[in-house]
Amino acid sequence: MTAPAKKIRPLVVGNWKMNGMGAHLRELRRLNTGLSKHKFGCDVAVCVPATLVHRLSTMKFGAKIMTGGQDCHGAQKGAHTGDVSAQMLKDAGAKWVIVGHSERRTEVKRGGHGETSKLVREKVLAAQMAGLRSIVCVGEMLTERKSGDTLKVVGAQLRQSLPDTCNAPDIVIAYEPVWAIGSGLTPSVEQIGAVHAHIRKALTRRFGDAGAAFRVLYGGSVNPSNAAELMAIANVNGALVGGASLKAADFSRIIGAYRR
Ligand code: PGA
Repeated sequence: MTAPAKKIRPLVVGNWKMNGMGAHLRELRRLNTGLSKHKFGCDVAVCVPATLVHRLSTMKFGAKIMTGGQDCHGAQKGAHTGDVSAQMLKDAGAKWVIVGHSERRTEVKRGGHGETSKLVREKVLAAQMAGLRSIVCVGEMLTERKSGDTLKVVGAQLRQSLPDTCNAPDIVIAYEPVWAIGSGLTPSVEQIGAVHAHIRKALTRRFGDAGAAFRVLYGGSVNPSNAAELMAIANVNGALVGGASLKAADFSRIIGAYRR
């Protein structure tokens, strides 16, 4: 039986991807001003490019916007030109890091970095060692959805990407169907509910009662118009938001799904 995921404090995460110069941080000042006027029953983090992590982490926000990075290397340090370690992100002021985003898992020839779940697991371990919280992304390609393999694919990614030493405050899962990212398409409420129930079941099977406490976010074309409906689905404990997190007005309306 799927354990009930009650009393989980939701988390809404912005993923700026490769967007944003220093000047763009003013959007987060605007976001802070907007959020400060109301009470929200969720946590908020923004994962900015590595170049902005330190600047964001030193900005003073009454609304407690947490800072995150978008990826880290699996090693603590070494000859890895151009890479950033989890410890470096932590040192720059990050609290969170996204790992295993589909834009990194995708094959190199399709613009990604060809990262496997085994590598994602190493990154989660590196983040744990550095004291960073991870947002671990899983999700099926359109061909896999069409061939009826969604649960199998997501289940395997989850199993292989998570180390045995996972605890709910430090690890967040994000279900992001690859075909929904940046496309304006979203799965139906039933389809999202089925995948999130499957993830919850897999977590409780593997981690026992603790599995009921993990936050499982939905990501992929979340916008101000669909956020409330998506966030109301059982076992959806927040959102990972790409494009719509770049503008304070849009992102605050998404966070508004958790307004008290
Ligand atoms: P999107 O991206 O909201 O622009 O679809 C989500 C993500 O890639 O995390």
